[in-house]
Amino acid sequence: MALWGGRFEEDAAPVTQEFGASLPVDKALYKQDIAGSIAHATMLAEQGIISHEDADAICAGLKSIEADIDAGAFTFNIADEDIHMAIESELTRRIGEPGGRLHTGRSRNDQVATDTRLGAKALAKDLMEANLGLRRALLSAAEDAGDAVLPGMTHLQHAQPVLFAHHLLAYVWMLGRDFTRLNAAFNAADLSPLGAAALAGTTYPLDRRMTAGLLGFSGVVENSLDAVSDRDFLLDLEYACSVMAMHLSRLAEEIVLWSSQEFGFITLSDAYSTGSSIMPQKKNPDFAELIRGKTGRVVGDLVQLLVTMKGLPLAYNKDMQEDKEGALDAAKTLAQCLAVMTGMVSTWTVNADRMRAVMHRGHLAATDVADYLAKRGMPFREAHAVVGHLVLEAEKRGCDIADLPFEVFEQASELFGRDITKALDLDAIVAARTTEGGTAPTAVAEQMKRARARYLVDENAVKLLAPVIPFGHLGHLGTGSN
Ligand code: ARG
Repeated sequence: MALWGGRFEEDAAPVTQEFGASLPVDKALYKQDIAGSIAHATMLAEQGIISHEDADAICAGLKSIEADIDAGAFTFNIADEDIHMAIESELTRRIGEPGGRLHTGRSRNDQVATDTRLGAKALAKDLMEANLGLRRALLSAAEDAGDAVLPGMTHLQHAQPVLFAHHLLAYVWMLGRDFTRLNAAFNAADLSPLGAAALAGTTYPLDRRMTAGLLGFSGVVENSLDAVSDRDFLLDLEYACSVMAMHLSRLAEEIVLWSSQEFGFITLSDAYSTGSSIMPQKKNPDFAELIRGKTGRVVGDLVQLLVTMKGLPLAYNKDMQEDKEGALDAAKTLAQCLAVMTGMVSTWTVNADRMRAVMHRGHLAATDVADYLAKRGMPFREAHAVVGHLVLEAEKRGCDIADLPFEVFEQASELFGRDITKALDLDAIVAARTTEGGTAPTAVAEQMKRARARYLVDENAVKLLAPVIPFGHLGHLGTGSN
């Protein structure tokens, strides 16, 4: 018979046991659950709701259960339905009557919301640290890139030359925004729902601020109904994960392209490549492809929770039990993607010569030739047409605009002087884009400074976060059964 046996005459249908249980997923939250119960019992005693002796017995019992789970010496039983009941019933087995007083003034509804928020904070913090790790790898890859240039693209067609460092820094800024989103998700989770009880608060003189403080929350959720029915903090986390996964997917796609024979811009290290079971020559970017692929899974987790929540009346509904699996999966998947991407970026070889060799395709200098004419008085639209004709001529000759003889330029416009060759020089083209945020080496050096400063601000922000209760081995991002 279940914990609520009093009201029931029949046992639950066997088919509902596994169906109704969340234990296989939420056992990952055992440390958060135990911390929540210790805080609750401590507060109950401080408020004179239970005796200090009972609270001491409860806390000691909970710690011994935690030690057993830590050691892998605890057998979970699906009949307990979820982690809250698994721990409470084991506690009562171990310490007897005081165990039965733990749930005074509490419901699983505020308990699960508390555990989930504590878990979300730990996940957000771990992902913020992993985000910083990838940014470090990209910053040093950008540093190492020196003055390597590659064809910047629009529509996947050669457009204008850019510094490879500039290209990599674009991802550093994208990841900076991802960090901000994770930080916001952390803050959204950082309020305690404990004390809301089932939905309406309780008749006991609970001190919600005390339990919030003991658990490292920055405050309490103001409305008891909202406290037990809000899962926005998980949506925030999964959205942050989804956007970051999408960013990693875009970089992964570039890695797949760059490491192909057609591009040849980078060579992945053997440690981050795979071979083929039949074609002996193959070296495949499987892990970049997998990062791209796993993005669908992370976004799927977000969509699943949005759809689960959308029709729910206040307050708690059992549908909400479906919230944790996707959130844990999204965070764990993203953490793995970040670790693999960090390794891949740190170990690739950049083929700067190859990048340079393909620059003479695609008329990368065309905009600058038009600018040359416009700076000598020709309206830009007209200059655009003149250069368009030059490109056509080059196409007919099967060469790049940069390889046309001076006479062809001369015929196209009398504004062309011998110094046009300077406008065709790819390094000069790059060096001339000195706009703030542009690709000139001077501008990129400035940008690098700012990206590093921003990195340090974020590194410090992690140190300033409210305390978290880290996952135990059943729920750690890189391992466990979640
Ligand atoms: N296992 C449940 C969940 O994950 C805990 C809360 C259950 N509350 C209830 N009233 N059935 O959501």
